[in-house]
Amino acid sequence: MALLDTMGRPVRDLRISVTDRCNFRCTYCMPKEIFNRDYEFLARELLLSFEEIERITRVFVGFGVEKVRLTGGEPLLRRGIEELIANLRTIDGLRDLTLTTNGSLLSRKAEDLAAAGLDRVTVSLDSLDEATFQAMNDVGFTVAEVLGGIDAAAAAGLDPVKINMVVKRGVNDDSILPIAEYFRHTGHIVRFIEFMDVGATNGWRLDDVVPAGDVVKMVNEVWPVEPADANYEGEVAQRWRYVDGAGEFGVITSVTQPFCGSCSRARLSAEGKLFTCLFATAGTDLRASLRSGASDAELEALLRGVWEARTDRYSEVRSEATVDLPKVEMSYIGG
Ligand code: GTP
Ligand code: 5AD
Ligand code: SF4
Ligand code: SF4
Repeated sequence: MALLDTMGRPVRDLRISVTDRCNFRCTYCMPKEIFNRDYEFLARELLLSFEEIERITRVFVGFGVEKVRLTGGEPLLRRGIEELIANLRTIDGLRDLTLTTNGSLLSRKAEDLAAAGLDRVTVSLDSLDEATFQAMNDVGFTVAEVLGGIDAAAAAGLDPVKINMVVKRGVNDDSILPIAEYFRHTGHIVRFIEFMDVGATNGWRLDDVVPAGDVVKMVNEVWPVEPADANYEGEVAQRWRYVDGAGEFGVITSVTQPFCGSCSRARLSAEGKLFTCLFATAGTDLRASLRSGASDAELEALLRGVWEARTDRYSEVRSEATVDLPKVEMSYIGG
């Protein structure tokens, strides 16, 4: 039976965070002042096991989920991730199995990920300028390491590779055109993301956001573009195609043009909490149910109840007041 929330939205996309750790300290996501030596990451025994993740995923696929995205933190830091991918691959009805990574470990892992059954990857890359990129990841990773990872992913068949660039005014907006140019004609798809007020630690201000409309205008002045239709109902990115046939890019307009009306995404944290919005302040503890012996029928009833009660539309109601809510961190809940 179809599962719909209070606004008639189905669940189609499950995003699974497999670790809250990351080897980057992007200033907009895990600022060093907070994510330092004293920060308490989740202890190993608190993480869902691969069996537990697979069990939850099977129930969601039964409810209509077709796409699973593995996230983190940095998902490639989770030991044995290939085994999880291989297990998820066996689920009938799962059409798209993908992963969002900072790219730092891809050169080493792309082949194994593809062999395990991963369909494709999305790689975050905020600038091609070495100084800007290193100031943003704040741990000295080089542009070349990430570009090498992107090449390895493409060579392993994890395509189309998507490139996520979070745009922050005055920090990396001068990297928009160089990134667009670099990835034209490659078959890779860049998405420019409006900097969002996720979590409670990234010091978000509306002034830092470069509206996606401005990004499209900038690109269009150099390489004319035209809108392209969404690939599927509720696609996050708005697609634009280069008129000269060099490919496409996307913009993610969560701040200036919210897309909650078609949001069909559920999020599972590494410790097994289920969230129905990226900006949630609380989730439902599935680990407790699993570890106290819940049957499949009980698990189904629990998930159904959560989704049927869902009212989330944070981006549509964002205001001065919501910005300071104690929201969960992006590194915890995944992108
Ligand atoms: P495709 O499967 O390639 O279409 O990917 P996607 O559009 O789901 O892309 P991805 O997971 O890479 O998401 C890109 C970025 O969009 C995320 O990292 C977030 O910054 C943002 N984003 C994704 N989902 C949501 C959402 O539900 N709400 C908001 N506000 N932002 C989102
Ligand atoms: N705003 C927008 N995007 C963000 N990401 C992380 N934090 C933010 C933020 N505050 C992006 C990363 C990555 C994905 C997981 O989410 O760059 O591409
Ligand atoms: Fe790590 Fe991604 Fe957050 Fe950067 S944005 S700190 S790479 S999880
Ligand atoms: Fe979905 Fe929440 Fe993002 Fe709106 S703000 S699109 S409800 S995750």
